Amino acid sequence: MKPHVICHMVASLDGRIITSRWGAAPTTKAYETTAATFDAQAWLCGRVTMEKDFTDGLAPDLRPGTAPPDRHDFVADKEATSFAVAIDAHGKLGWEAGHIDADHLISVLTEQASDEYLAYLRRQGVSYIFGGTKELDFKLVLDKLSQLFPIKTILLEGGGHVNGSLLKAGLVDELSLLHYPVIDGAASSAAVFELGKQPGPPAKLRLKHVEQLPDGLVWLRYDVLGHH
Ligand SMILES: NC(=O)c1ccc[n+]([C@@H]2O[C@H](COP(=O)([O-])OP(=O)(O)OC[C@H]3O[C@@H](n4cnc5c(N)ncnc54)[C@H](OP(=O)(O)O)[C@@H]3O)[C@@H](O)[C@H]2O)c1
Repeated sequence: MKPHVICHMVASLDGRIITSRWGAAPTTKAYETTAATFDAQAWLCGRVTMEKDFTDGLAPDLRPGTAPPDRHDFVADKEATSFAVAIDAHGKLGWEAGHIDADHLISVLTEQASDEYLAYLRRQGVSYIFGGTKELDFKLVLDKLSQLFPIKTILLEGGGHVNGSLLKAGLVDELSLLHYPVIDGAASSAAVFELGKQPGPPAKLRLKHVEQLPDGLVWLRYDVLGHH
């Protein structure tokens, strides 16, 4: 069964998401405390967000000629109960270990990832699943995440391109948005949902929670109703 997907993000009033542009914005604590109110077993981010905010651009240590015993999905830690999921279709990210803090790492790949990269993930103790041949099928990805791991609810934590991919595929169930009181205006910054040149019909949402938080933040929660 598909896990429940809650997109959890901080945005400027004009929907931009690169918080580092806002100076020493006190958004991290509120982001984490509100995230902790959800009963989620996993959080998921795109390759760019992982590289910028978590791996610091670490390159994978690929050893020529190495290969895994097979090219099937791989579960490195069968006991894990909390997870960090990286969307990394081509296998570009380097990892120091098989976890981020206490969360076991799962890399979501396509068949384009090399044997050397799979062997590298196994050495680092990172789990991986294949979500497509050339393109990722996020419905398949979510199904596999719930079948192979004890994941019922996932926090979709950006960036805008990954959020947009899941929204377009009709796979986002809720939006949890922290609005920070700044107008960013930078065209170079991704928006909460990047839907590309063919965005399709607008997604309709139903407001279900409004809360004022310290530092001028407003927490809005919505159910995603679908595309109309
Ligand atoms: N304000 C917040 O709450 C918040 C939260 C998270 C992130 N952020 C910020 O958001 C920024 C990054 O956002 P972003 O939108 O540029 O990047 P992103 O969504 O983190 O990552 C985009 C990458 O993910 C992979 N990807 C996305 N959709 C895919 C698809 N349908 N199929 C295959 N691969 C797919 C691609 O990787 P490849 O290029 O390798 O193919 C793509 O380049 C960062 O500055 C980060 O700090 C802010």
